Amino acid sequence: MSVLSDPFGRTFPYLRLSLTEACNFRCGYCLPDGYAADGRPVFLARDEVRRLLGAFATVGMRKVRLTGGEPTLRKDLVDIVADAARIDGVAKVALTTNGTRLPAHVGPWRDAGLTSLNVSADSLDRGVFEAVTGHDRLPEILDGIDRALALGFDAVKLNAVLLRGINDESLPAWLDYLRERRVSVRFIELMRTNDNVAYFERHHVRADAMERTLAESGWVRMMRASDAGPAIEYVHPDYAGRIGIIAPYSRDFCAGCNRLRVTARGDLRLCLFGDHGVPLRALLQSDDDRDALVGLIASQLRLKAAGHGLHAGDSGITPHLASIGG
Ligand code: 5AD
Ligand code: SF4
Repeated sequence: MSVLSDPFGRTFPYLRLSLTEACNFRCGYCLPDGYAADGRPVFLARDEVRRLLGAFATVGMRKVRLTGGEPTLRKDLVDIVADAARIDGVAKVALTTNGTRLPAHVGPWRDAGLTSLNVSADSLDRGVFEAVTGHDRLPEILDGIDRALALGFDAVKLNAVLLRGINDESLPAWLDYLRERRVSVRFIELMRTNDNVAYFERHHVRADAMERTLAESGWVRMMRASDAGPAIEYVHPDYAGRIGIIAPYSRDFCAGCNRLRVTARGDLRLCLFGDHGVPLRALLQSDDDRDALVGLIASQLRLKAAGHGLHAGDSGITPHLASIGG
């Protein structure tokens, strides 16, 4: 089977797989009241994940990002990382986490084959961090990040969602942090979801002003790699770290999209803000269904639409990002 592409010539070397909808944080824009199990249990089991990743690798996936919810809440995460790293063709295994389990677990994850790490950190100020996430855990998370940096990952990236009136004047603190650390901080524009409409109205701020400030202070925009995420990256000769901007409301955001998502319940989502999911789970129960699974994925990809409906205020069926993987 050759590498998949959609009718717009995009290929899909990158899959984001949610391992759970559960999270131990209460970020104001995502799960402000915390995660509540809804009675329908069971996220994909380790064997189902292994079959799923094998099939995607057959059709061109080279990088998988394990996400959530909070994927590190899974006891079998280290095994899942090891399974993923062992699949033919998979060159990168990445993890997106809120960082709370980094200090104790980042070493074993690295040993199991994890190649890159994204940690959510909306603020470097302890009080602001607590106000956003509902938890006073910034110091240990920063400690975990420094630990990760010593382990030689391909990339350590921090995600900060830009929030008007909360953290949108924090660039100087980030610059201090980036001067000596080889990390990339990505400033993400807040996305509107079905559950966060009022929060979005209050706190959404565009990244334009920050991009202007960066350009004026000597930061230089980089070219994108083919398997790169949606960030526009900036570098500066005086800083070890980098800055990325992720602006989902910008004009060309969808044209560069090379990602597919699978939810923690095994639904293929062609677009974060699309309006339907394709259940794959029935074909994840036995190794014998592999060809049928590959066929289903290939046929769906041909349907991947040209763009999302965010500009029209359409948030698709996404209640919050914990349900699909941010
Ligand atoms: N808008 C932008 N970013 C979000 N995230 C979660 N919900 C949203 C949203 N509505 C971010 C998290 C985390 C990443 C996985 O996605 O802060 O860094
Ligand atoms: Fe949890 Fe991430 Fe949602 Fe925050 S943004 S509540 S860390 S899933």
